[in-house]
Amino acid sequence: MFERILLAVDGSEHALHATKKAAELARVMKPKELRVVVVYDPIPIYLGEPNMQIAITSRKGEAESILEKAIAEIGEVPCEVQSGILEGEPAEAIIEVSNTRKSDLIIMGSRGLGRLAGLVLGSTSQKVVAHAPCPVLIVR
Ligand SMILES: Nc1ncnc2c1ncn2[C@@H]1O[C@H](COP(=O)(O)OP(=O)(O)OP(=O)(O)O)[C@@H](O)[C@H]1O
Ligand SMILES: [Mg+2]
Repeated sequence: MFERILLAVDGSEHALHATKKAAELARVMKPKELRVVVVYDPIPIYLGEPNMQIAITSRKGEAESILEKAIAEIGEVPCEVQSGILEGEPAEAIIEVSNTRKSDLIIMGSRGLGRLAGLVLGSTSQKVVAHAPCPVLIVR
């Protein structure tokens, strides 16, 4: 039913829950591909060099470690596991990659690392639900 699953993670508790569900689903559904992505915010150009390179390296490093944890959490699944680090506004980047990779399901957490308590859905999950080209599974 779902052949190309896209999992978006930001290192939060909710994203960890989403990761566990994505792995369970992959085991049952046997899709072709499970793609895990992390998006980091663009680095403002006014930082100048070498600060800009330092900031990029540090954000990529953080993203790398978030991805590694998610992939370790996924463990053995009967499909290809791909991963990607993207730069941009998180919801826009998630929607763009879901279009280019022809994802047929996006899995993400209801909340993320944001600090505004009380929200049911964070802004990233709200935007993705509103604009995704495919079904979205929001995990609490
Ligand atoms: N930078 C990101 N890269 C990949 N996935 C992300 C990113 N940010 C959020 N997500 C995904 O979206 C889910 C919901 O996070 P969201 O950002 O909407 O909530 P929040 O951080 O609590 O709120 P806000 O960002 O609006 O303050 C996360 O659990 C994760 O699955
Ligand atoms: Mg957030």
